[in-house]
Amino acid sequence: MNNLNTLKKSNKAIKWLSKATSNDWLQLALAHPLEVLVDHAHCERKAAGAALQLMFRYLCEPGLSEVLSPLAREELEHFEKVLRLIKSRGLYLKPLPAPPYGTILSKQIRRDEPGRMLDSFLVAGLIEARSHERMVLLAEHSPDNELRKLYSELLISEARHFSLYWKLCLERYARPLIINRLEHLASVEAAILSDMHPEPRMHS
Ligand SMILES: [Fe+2]
Ligand SMILES: [Fe+2]
Repeated sequence: MNNLNTLKKSNKAIKWLSKATSNDWLQLALAHPLEVLVDHAHCERKAAGAALQLMFRYLCEPGLSEVLSPLAREELEHFEKVLRLIKSRGLYLKPLPAPPYGTILSKQIRRDEPGRMLDSFLVAGLIEARSHERMVLLAEHSPDNELRKLYSELLISEARHFSLYWKLCLERYARPLIINRLEHLASVEAAILSDMHPEPRMHS
């Protein structure tokens, strides 16, 4: 079996999220579509920032910049797209207090290598996977045509993004080691969300 087939097979078996999003979150998000949209713009620019930060930290790691640089660019394109829609609604970006999701997840990243790199890829992939899962819900349930269209378009790329982080892991670490660590991080991720943040956010 060639490398690509091996990768496809491994990708298929991977399950990022340990728990599905609750109906409570969906109802909260549907009740505050524009606040979620502004938060989503912040998520896109944070995803671009996270990809760039990893690229700069591991700049001399072969095969990394080739993946992370286009990814960061694509996230910025998403940011611009969301910003255009926000402006078309007569609004603009505003700072929104972030839920504790990202901070708690980042604290799980080990400080020493090689664990640090693996955890960084997995945390980034988990955030992408959760964003994707929630965009699918919004694309399906939002009563607003334009929002449904926006989320439907964006979620196609987001699915590719968590696959990219998975690929970066597989190229550098043994599969059982990755799965083991992912299970831990995914359980932390689900626990953060089970204690739902009261404000409507993509990751509340
Ligand atoms: Fe994105
Ligand atoms: Fe993404």
